[in-house]
Amino acid sequence: MDTIGIFINGQSEVKERTYDLFAPYSGECIAKISMADHADVERAIAGAQEAAAVMKQMPSYKRADILFKAAEILRSRKEEMAHIIASEAGKPIRTARAEIDRTIVTYQFAGEEAKRIYGETIPMDAAPGGENRLGFTWREPLGVVSAITPFNFPFNLVAHKLGPAFAAGNTVVLKPAGQTPLSAYAIAEVFREAGLPDGALQVVTGSGRELSDALITDERVKKVTFTGSAPVGKTIKQKAGLRKVTLELGSNAGLIIEPDVPLDSIVARCVEGAFAFAGQVCISLQRIYVHESIYSAFSELFIERAKQLKVGDPLEEATDISAMISQGEAERIEAWVEEAISQGARVGLGGKREGSVFMPTVLLDVTGEMAVSCQETFAPVVSIVAYKELDEAIAKVNDSVYGLNVGIYTQNIMNALNAARKLESGGVIINDIPTFRLDHMPYGGVKDSGYGREGVKYAVQEMTELKFVTIKTTF
Ligand code: SIN
Repeated sequence: MDTIGIFINGQSEVKERTYDLFAPYSGECIAKISMADHADVERAIAGAQEAAAVMKQMPSYKRADILFKAAEILRSRKEEMAHIIASEAGKPIRTARAEIDRTIVTYQFAGEEAKRIYGETIPMDAAPGGENRLGFTWREPLGVVSAITPFNFPFNLVAHKLGPAFAAGNTVVLKPAGQTPLSAYAIAEVFREAGLPDGALQVVTGSGRELSDALITDERVKKVTFTGSAPVGKTIKQKAGLRKVTLELGSNAGLIIEPDVPLDSIVARCVEGAFAFAGQVCISLQRIYVHESIYSAFSELFIERAKQLKVGDPLEEATDISAMISQGEAERIEAWVEEAISQGARVGLGGKREGSVFMPTVLLDVTGEMAVSCQETFAPVVSIVAYKELDEAIAKVNDSVYGLNVGIYTQNIMNALNAARKLESGGVIINDIPTFRLDHMPYGGVKDSGYGREGVKYAVQEMTELKFVTIKTTF
């Protein structure tokens, strides 16, 4: 079995201390992963700091070329990369391929954005004392960025950090999720082949707190970008001090379905939003609010469609849903569902666990206080709830500590736009599920869903410092 090394200054280094990486579905040990220690993290940051000087001097067309080349390499090795995701994350292979397609697009956008990092001119004479002065801004790279990434999109959510960071001329120390290190090491090799200077991407794996703390608090680290849970995000923000931070956290995404929509055309999409990658997506559709006049019809159609999902091995072509990331996670959601049932919820479908697989589950008669509604399930569990008035549905969606994406289906443009105004979220998706995302869209949340925005152009802004320069044109 392969032992995978940490990746520092362009070299893979196998460490004595390793951990076993198990495939979530088969339970098979698929690799031994090197564990970085404190000294390794120190070397990683020092190397990234040296490489930051090289990246800062690199012209933007060269940074763009590296990003385009990385996208090309990924395209040529798509099947291999998709298999890595399917094996280590348990993501069904068709969904894994779609993730690689998105990753290619993300790096292409990053290459394009590298060439359009603009400043602006400031009309200095707009204030008394500004006569005979020119003022303008440009954006400078920050230096070393720490990226702490989750298991659920091990290529594309990493791309949302590496792409903008390199586009802006920064370097990155990446700590991927413990369950998905293989994707991170694969992308490090891709960037080496694409011509990224040694040290500009360092990958360290190992056990949590100690390594993460160094990545957050080291003086040389200028920015921390994190995707993961709200509690961890809050801790990072506290520890990061005055450093820049971007936090892309979770949600219990809601969808409103008004009575004027053709249900047949939206049901399959809603099922996809609730169950893709077993609901382990920050914008997975968790709460569906349906107008009471169509509640029964929608619930029946939804459950019928969800019954057709094929549960099984992520490496099989036909599989729609596979294991959750660990048996512990499947047991957690099983307990939440049992608790909801004890509080009065009814099971419309599923509700059962088999090892690390939790069956696609539809809950009815769910109330806002139940954990399956007010907390982030991050599991293939969705509730369907009836409402009478649109404002009531909006209030129910807003009654959440989270606010990432919200969806609303309606043919009434005024209702749609009024809802968009009232909904407390980073994004509103009209006539589609909240799970919809293209990689150049601004993406990020309000409330406990996060801080700052991703989406390549927006992340580039958050990974640069604005410099203001003024010239007095007379003596
Ligand atoms: C996420 O889970 O935060 C990202 C969802 C996506 O990129 O589709």
